[in-house]
Amino acid sequence: MQTSLPLVVDRSGSLPLHLQLAEQFRAAVLDGRLQAGHRLPSTRDLAKQLSVARAVAQAAYDQLQAEGWIEGRTGAGTFVTDVAPLRPAERRRTASAPEPERELLTLRPGIPYIDPTPDPGWRRAWREVSTQSPPRGYDDAAGLPALRTALAEHVGRVRGIACAPENILITDGTVHGLRLLLTVTQRPGDRIAIEDPGYLNAVVAARDHGLRIVDVPVDRDGLRVAELPDDLAAVYVTPSHQYPLGGRLPVARRNELIRWARRTNALLIEDDYDSEFRFDVAPLPALAQLDLDRVVHLGTLSKTLSPALRLGWLVAAAPTVDRLAAFRADSGDWPGWPMQAALLAMLRDGYLDQAIRKHRRRYADRRTQACAALAPYGRVVGQEAGLHITLLLPNHLDDRTLATQARAAGLDLAPLSDYRRTTPGPPGLVIGYATPTTPDLHKALTILTTLLAHPQPPLDGLTHQTAGRPTASD
Ligand SMILES: Cc1ncc(COP(=O)(O)O)c(C=O)c1O
Repeated sequence: MQTSLPLVVDRSGSLPLHLQLAEQFRAAVLDGRLQAGHRLPSTRDLAKQLSVARAVAQAAYDQLQAEGWIEGRTGAGTFVTDVAPLRPAERRRTASAPEPERELLTLRPGIPYIDPTPDPGWRRAWREVSTQSPPRGYDDAAGLPALRTALAEHVGRVRGIACAPENILITDGTVHGLRLLLTVTQRPGDRIAIEDPGYLNAVVAARDHGLRIVDVPVDRDGLRVAELPDDLAAVYVTPSHQYPLGGRLPVARRNELIRWARRTNALLIEDDYDSEFRFDVAPLPALAQLDLDRVVHLGTLSKTLSPALRLGWLVAAAPTVDRLAAFRADSGDWPGWPMQAALLAMLRDGYLDQAIRKHRRRYADRRTQACAALAPYGRVVGQEAGLHITLLLPNHLDDRTLATQARAAGLDLAPLSDYRRTTPGPPGLVIGYATPTTPDLHKALTILTTLLAHPQPPLDGLTHQTAGRPTASD
């Protein structure tokens, strides 16, 4: 009996002839050309058909039989077994290819300006890293010792925190540091106060750890310390530039907060968000400078260099740093060597200070531009510092509707309502002026002021839509 399969053998091939045959039979079963129950030619017929020795055909069948593809039935012949053909997994098709996202202009807060031409200082640091061999073995889970030393000097100089390398832990940024801190120091069910309106990623981090969140109102000076209940395990606060309303916690309130924490034994978590960019006077020293036993301070490169670097630091009492490092040593989760080594070079060469000075000048101009354009349409707050201002709007306007309308006009905006949880307050827009190029900032402000000058009634379907999911940078 001849098989109808187009079998071939390649005598010059590297695969033995019996394996070539076996492979072709397998492929035929898999793609359905040979069905279960199909009778195969005898080894004699197959050998004749292909002009090979009968032993070759026999070896091919032996192989296939051993693998379960075929079976010999005494006196009847050789048959394909019931191997359900295994087809390659079907690719899932979406009904239609997704529309490519339109490039939007953005005034969302939280992302610094990224210079398209890297600075010589930046290039020098990375060149230096590239010429070193990586350290042997696992690094210190608290961070590179030399970097911890350099950062202790840095936060002492720029944030007034008198500390030693033992007080520094290198993190992947603020949110990473916060999550680690909550995991190691807080018990699920503990109560943590978070500013309202406030940083949503802090809320998510606390919720993920099973903490109960207490919404605490803020005013133009920041957290309303007098409203903190006494039964809290921790407070998360942005004293340098309250996120998103922009208040700066005054000295009297800082002292009140420390006194409250000492009395109630609560932990204060200072997110030093935006502290590097003050435009009128020098920044106030960090809260942690008042009491490092009570305050854990979180710093980041996200607002000064780039959030994509994923690098930051945590400053705390040495026993806390030790606990966090021990936890990390077990979990294997700490920042990689190249980024740490690069930051070390940047700190040593003064590149970080220099980049901050350069950005500060750029942002000061942009802030002036944004404030001047937006002041006629509401009350601008938080303009003394940082990378964003907040425009408080008249009560009859709906900020989410405005953001949706802005999106339709090509502009991505963050409505203040997205940051509010239970504490009511006026509508507003959180305007980040750092990210766009200068011409794009101009275009974005033109779109926004045109909308604000002629606020449209909400269209059906546009009312109260969230303009975009709050992102990590929100
Ligand atoms: C209040 C606040 N803290 C911290 C960050 C930065 O976090 P990370 O260092 O994790 O990038 C942001 C980013 O937008 C922020 O808004």
